[in-house]
Amino acid sequence: MKTSKIILGIVAITIFACSTKKNATSSSTKTDSYDTQLTAIKGRYADVTVEELKLGHSVSTGACTNCHGQKDVKGYTEESLFKILDNMAKKAEISDKEKQALVRYCVAVRATNTK
Ligand code: HEC
Repeated sequence: MKTSKIILGIVAITIFACSTKKNATSSSTKTDSYDTQLTAIKGRYADVTVEELKLGHSVSTGACTNCHGQKDVKGYTEESLFKILDNMAKKAEISDKEKQALVRYCVAVRATNTK
């Protein structure tokens, strides 16, 4: 009886420790990846901000998933991706500001292999 309680305790602690670690890792990874993305495309889009990349991410995971899942933007040449984005931005009826953020976010994702 006593042994099983100890085992149960160890299991509970292990699960708690693992899940805490997982949450901490994933949230810091996301913040880090905006910084990495910003650095990667700053030379190309001098006025880009983390807020703009966040907007691009939210369009990509929001309006762009109304008809299909989130698409992998790395499997195209940049030229064909930009044509696709022109097309899809019309379908998604996003604003010019949202489209610019999406384009920059996609370029950053491609440059850094992040999401
Ligand atoms: C009104 C519906 C709709 C919306 C909104 C939409 N798409 Fe699409 N998208 C489609 C359809 C239909 C296809 C073609 C079938 C498929 O690949 O699922 C497609 C295909 C794609 C493809 C593959 C194109 C190819 O030629 O390989 C990409 C990439 C894509 N969409 C990205 C996006 C992005 C980014 C957004 C947000 C701006 C978006 N889509 C919003 C309907 C939509």
